[in-house]
Amino acid sequence: MALCGFLSLALLSFSFSILLVEQPNRAYGSRHDTFGLAGGAWDPYPRFGLCASSVIVHGYKCREFEVTTEDGYVLGIQRIPEGRSGGGGRTKQPVLLQHGVLVDGMTWVMNSPDQSLAFILADSGFDVWIANTRGTRYSRGHTTLDPASQAYWFWSWDELVSYDLPAIFDFIYHQTGQKLHYVGHSMGTLIALASVSQGKLVDKLRSAALLSPVAYLSHMTTALGLLAARAFVGEITTLIGFSEFNPKGQPVANFLNVLCANPGVDCYDLLTSFTGQNCCLNSSTLDLFLKNEPQSTSTKNLVHLSQTVRDGILSKYDYGNRDLNMEYYGQGRPPIYNLSNIPRNIPLFVSYGGQDALSDVRDVGLLLDSLKFHDGDKLTVQFIRDFAHADFILGVSAREIVYNAIIAFFRRQ
Ligand SMILES: *[C@@H]1O[C@H](CO)[C@@H](O)[C@H](O)[C@H]1NC(C)=O
Ligand SMILES: *[C@@H]1O[C@H](CO)[C@@H](O)[C@H](O)[C@H]1NC(C)=O
Repeated sequence: MALCGFLSLALLSFSFSILLVEQPNRAYGSRHDTFGLAGGAWDPYPRFGLCASSVIVHGYKCREFEVTTEDGYVLGIQRIPEGRSGGGGRTKQPVLLQHGVLVDGMTWVMNSPDQSLAFILADSGFDVWIANTRGTRYSRGHTTLDPASQAYWFWSWDELVSYDLPAIFDFIYHQTGQKLHYVGHSMGTLIALASVSQGKLVDKLRSAALLSPVAYLSHMTTALGLLAARAFVGEITTLIGFSEFNPKGQPVANFLNVLCANPGVDCYDLLTSFTGQNCCLNSSTLDLFLKNEPQSTSTKNLVHLSQTVRDGILSKYDYGNRDLNMEYYGQGRPPIYNLSNIPRNIPLFVSYGGQDALSDVRDVGLLLDSLKFHDGDKLTVQFIRDFAHADFILGVSAREIVYNAIIAFFRRQ
């Protein structure tokens, strides 16, 4: 989720922390099948990882893979190769699902099979792949760095643009021999747009669906959101340092306490005050969500997202002064991501909500404006008046309103 989706989740989990049971890190439990090259017949029903906890229980086959990025991060990804009624041996088109910030791939499979996008796509004949961003529970490996070290957390969404997405695209492309459809939510839209604007992914991308798109954040309106954004650019790094931002940890709880002590900040209904009024969440699903999310990200990533709020332009991480930027980029200001460079013939489906406090209607307008020269027949835009940020992933009516439209869009490509 965007800058604040996660923070809402962070805050939520903070206020519900009594209900939360720290789960041991199970990332390593799923590392039994590096690159899927273990040889022999694959086990469609693994006992560990996201497949075991959330997919095979619904009667789907599922497989865990690991992908190593160029900068050494070992990412867990899952594949649901076919629907409940089997595959019929047909060649299927792969679809990659990319979640937002401070959550992980489990958010795509939290509702019932008839309501969750990952299952609906599998049952509709697609080969479904689920990504998990570095630092979240299934993606905490690294070839040399330990997640307990600061060095492991020295990255922002720039690295997701440059390393995570390209590595995952390469892997799936080589496994399937086919170009990918992509579905991103919130930060999952930002990193795809930025990556494609740099010419990455393009040769392996068939089409992209962007839900609650986040590229510009300058119109985000909630008091809490703006305050958090200011804090992230300011005191957060002295409070927490450039290390892990663990929403379930004590330093983050302290930080949130400080934020919520500000006059005018409503910390009572946190989800709503951050994401907007979600119309269609199921309370059992919300319970499941709170037991499993939020997930860690890097403090540097949140600072970078906050810079996006403050600056209103899309650029690489700003080290805060000319000299440091010179050192990292060879120029005094961080390089920008120019979305006008997105190839005009990539099929895009954009869906956004009228109640979304993070992906504000005016900011989506800015994004659409930067796509105004896109080939007319390659851009589909859907506006859903009643939807807020979380409805796109967890809403019980998302299938009728959004997912069926995505499937129709994919089938046209
Ligand atoms: C909410 O989730 C529960 C548990 O999965 C399910 O039994 C129920 O049917 C769901 N309600 C709606 C309206 O989808
Ligand atoms: C972005 O790219 C477009 C087209 O290549 C160019 O006209 C525009 O000036 C660029 N914008 C910035 C801010 O560099």
